Amino acid sequence: MRICITGTPGTGKSTISKLIPGKSIDLNEFARENGCLKGYDRKRRVRVVDIQCLKEKLRDLNDAILVGHYSHLLDCHIVIVFRTNPSILEKRLRERNYTQEKIRENMEAEALGIITQEALELCRNVYEIDTTSSDEGKILNIIEKIIEGKGEEYRAGNIDYTEEILKWY
Ligand SMILES: Nc1ncnc2c1ncn2[C@@H]1O[C@H](COP(=O)(O)OP(=O)(O)O)[C@@H](O)[C@H]1O
Ligand SMILES: [Mg+2]
Repeated sequence: MRICITGTPGTGKSTISKLIPGKSIDLNEFARENGCLKGYDRKRRVRVVDIQCLKEKLRDLNDAILVGHYSHLLDCHIVIVFRTNPSILEKRLRERNYTQEKIRENMEAEALGIITQEALELCRNVYEIDTTSSDEGKILNIIEKIIEGKGEEYRAGNIDYTEEILKWY
């Protein structure tokens, strides 16, 4: 089963996936090692990932946990979207020295639940976990439940940060 952990940058994907025993694949690393970085986004100052290239390189990896903010684009059986309160996300991204523009862009995407929407267009089994609080053990337990098919209460739609936007004006 291919499980994909996705979410806006700063929602805790790398932190949590390092705690998952076994086979989690960091897609940024995988893309770099497999020649799937194509071109350069000057505005965002990041290399662009070639999704088609990743799909081909991952073709035989059916039992894996793929981790990255575009993992939901990669033919997943289960997508788990990490969600974080946008104001907390802002603090985390500031610590990364992201530009104000990039922070805002990610806060908006998170408030609107863009990744969840994208995932729902591609996959029937989409779940959301709130990673605003720091309880890593609890997050790991929820992931386990979802994989075991006992995560109904975490189905996409259980988290809504759209009202946060009203506080920004
Ligand atoms: N569950 C959590 N609670 C509180 N802080 C967290 C949690 N998960 C991650 N963080 C913090 O948030 C920041 C971003 O985490 P990271 O795992 O790098 O996110 P991502 O890989 O999704 O971009 C880090 O500073 C990390 O320490
Ligand atoms: Mg990361």
